[in-house]
Amino acid sequence: MQENLLNQIDLNNIPKHVAIILDGNGRWAKKRFLPRFKGHQEGMKRVVEIVEVASDIGIKYLSVYAFSTENWKRPVLEVNSLMDLLVYYVEIQLDRLKKNNVRVITLGDISKIPAKAKNAIIKACNETSSNTGMVLNIALNYGGRDDIINATKNIIKDLELEKINLDNLNEDIFKNYLYTKNQPDVDLLIRSGGEKRLSNFLLYQTAYAELYFTDCLWPDFKEEELFKSIIDYQNRNRRFGGV
Ligand code: IPE
Ligand code: IPE
Ligand code: MG
Repeated sequence: MQENLLNQIDLNNIPKHVAIILDGNGRWAKKRFLPRFKGHQEGMKRVVEIVEVASDIGIKYLSVYAFSTENWKRPVLEVNSLMDLLVYYVEIQLDRLKKNNVRVITLGDISKIPAKAKNAIIKACNETSSNTGMVLNIALNYGGRDDIINATKNIIKDLELEKINLDNLNEDIFKNYLYTKNQPDVDLLIRSGGEKRLSNFLLYQTAYAELYFTDCLWPDFKEEELFKSIIDYQNRNRRFGGV
């Protein structure tokens, strides 16, 4: 089935930047009478697989929503287990990411996350910083509103330092103050788990993204689900306001 789907993909029209809101881990676990943590654990395996497939088919930027600025509202035990899982996977996957020439970048304010997770992720960023393959954006303590406010603050600082001037401030300059600086806008935004909302992900960067929602729970999101979303994307007519 994967082969069949893969054959339907036009490799010359792969979305450059794909963003994923990986949702449904908790419900996946609940359906199986397992603790939510088990859903996150299984979900992490899918992240690893999807990163590899995405890079193989030529996606240039992949953004995954690992932890939102709102996710701090969850029970502290769940927050901790999510952070521990992240450390575990970043550490064991680092060699593989390097081998695949993937460059890891974080989106969000990582100063607020536990030291162990912060150190693991910084290490991954540093050790992959000269890689030239796919960019893997890990959104961690990320919020689209925080992204825009953070950009605004830095713009004000640079205005005061006269590095930029107000009359020239435009979208191209603004974009480069976002966590995704130097990256193209999102082409395809995927959300698993059935909800149809952005949950504060990449608000500015998805202004013209094609949105793809699937009921598939994230731990069930195998490569064929990614292929299906890309085929769907390739059948859209992107007009960007034109005719
Ligand atoms: C998404 O799955 C994972 C993260 C937020 C990191 P959820 O934990 O939100 O799963 P549901 O929505 O409760 O099923
Ligand atoms: C979005 O999922 C955040 C991440 C995937 C990290 P949530 O499960 O937190 O979103 P809501 O609460 O349903 O909006
Ligand atoms: Mg959820």
